[in-house]
Amino acid sequence: MTVLVTGGAGYIGAHAVRALLRAGRRVAILDDLSTGHRDTVPDEVPLCVADIADAGAVGAFIAAQGVSAVLHFAARSLVGESVADPRKYWRDNVAGSVALLGAVVDAGVRDVVVSSTAAVYGVPERSPLDEAHRTNPVNPYGATKLAVERALADYAAAYPLRYAALRYFNAAGADPDAGLGERHDPETHLIPRVLRSASEGCEVAIHGTDWDTRDGTCVRDYVHVRDLADAHVAALRHLEAGGAGGAFNLGTGTGSSVREVIDVVAKVTGRPLRVVEGPRRAGDPPVLVADATRASRELGFSAARSSLRQVVEDAWAFERGRSGAGGL
Ligand code: UFG
Repeated sequence: MTVLVTGGAGYIGAHAVRALLRAGRRVAILDDLSTGHRDTVPDEVPLCVADIADAGAVGAFIAAQGVSAVLHFAARSLVGESVADPRKYWRDNVAGSVALLGAVVDAGVRDVVVSSTAAVYGVPERSPLDEAHRTNPVNPYGATKLAVERALADYAAAYPLRYAALRYFNAAGADPDAGLGERHDPETHLIPRVLRSASEGCEVAIHGTDWDTRDGTCVRDYVHVRDLADAHVAALRHLEAGGAGGAFNLGTGTGSSVREVIDVVAKVTGRPLRVVEGPRRAGDPPVLVADATRASRELGFSAARSSLRQVVEDAWAFERGRSGAGGL
């Protein structure tokens, strides 16, 4: 039976496709290529270029491929863009997912693993954050991801559907051997931006140095994209074995400040960085660190590749290949 990966040509989806293939699963990808890259799709994997909201195309592809489970990554995922253009997020993330899930239920597909985010929590009341922390998103991106989680909870109560919503903290790193890494446009994430300062000499601003943290800069829980990818395979196995669904945090339990990230990039790259201190970015919580106990206990999740050093080394190897800065 085939696993359908929506957004399988995107950053995290493409890594999950590799993890599924390594686990011996048959895979098919649904991606409209609006932010995904066709060149990440392995030759042997069928690709349907369609919108997740196109229930006719989705239903036909599910039937043709013999799909028994879905990993759902396809989504808009930029916090700032979601504030500036919320209807894109409600349309693509919520209406798109509702249409997709309708096709999934109609086709009798039972198991669904979806991408969710730490942004569902909003401003943390405690750290590290476990899944019981109240959800109160402070931007449309987080609100739309939470809406999808709520739809899934209702569907799972009413229909023969099981789901896991994986709440990622800060996805980072790359699989340079597979030619996979972050290729967002525009790139707003910290690690690729600092790496670009190393490879192309562009300036990178620290968004605030007066936070109430150990060095005044924001603290985040960076988790290697390959660990995230493996967690999806584990979550799928867990559902297929009849395990309890719901929300699972994915993170390391250890936070790194913006300055600590910059220091590791400087060491790994050995290149000068053009760093300036700027004002705070609206909507940034000072500290976001995961308590991933549930995922490690129930899914066997392990942040094995997620030391900051390993994350940065892999992202740098990918960046050098991408930019031609120093070759590989
Ligand atoms: N930062 C900088 N300079 C930059 C870019 C980022 O100082 O040029 C800082 C940010 O202010 C933040 C930290 O680096 O403190 C990490 O920023 P990212 O943009 O890399 O990631 P975020 O923490 O903002 O976003 C992540 C996920 C989102 C998720 C969010 C939850 O990428 O999907 O966490 O708050 F919604």
